[in-house]
Amino acid sequence: MLGSVTLELDARIADSDNPGALATDEAHVRLLAVAPVARRLGVGRTLMEHCAAVARDRGKARLTLNTSQGNIPAQRFYEAIGFVRLPGRPLRDGSALCSYERALPAS
Ligand SMILES: CC(C)(COP(=O)(O)OP(=O)(O)OC[C@H]1O[C@@H](n2cnc3c(N)ncnc32)[C@H](O)[C@@H]1OP(=O)(O)O)[C@@H](O)C(=O)NCCC(=O)NCCS
Repeated sequence: MLGSVTLELDARIADSDNPGALATDEAHVRLLAVAPVARRLGVGRTLMEHCAAVARDRGKARLTLNTSQGNIPAQRFYEAIGFVRLPGRPLRDGSALCSYERALPAS
């Protein structure tokens, strides 16, 4: 396995990193990871484009995700594939979450 990702389409999963319900126009990406030996080969981009296509097919208008403030490589990755950074949110342990969103224009 080169990588994996979880896509919330209908509801948040139990240990969600987001409070509140999933908005009706929203799909949320979680737990994206690519094996270290397979990084920088386009696997992450391919997984995310597949998520975008599935979400668009399900009528979603935007793809959202969170990453930790310290995860600079992930932030660079999300920005490189078209995600826009939104205001983040502090966590109880003193760290912070960075939130990102990408619009899913109907094709
Ligand atoms: C973040 C992660 C999923 C990226 O996956 P990937 O398969 O390596 O990414 P891609 O090869 O598709 O990269 C696409 C573009 O994103 C950018 N990018 C990817 N990794 C980057 C990094 N470490 N630093 C800067 N830019 C990066 C580049 O612009 C890259 O294009 P290029 O290689 O042609 O320059 C992977 O590094 C990973 O699994 N990290 C550990 C787990 C993690 O942090 N997951 C995200 C949690 S929210």
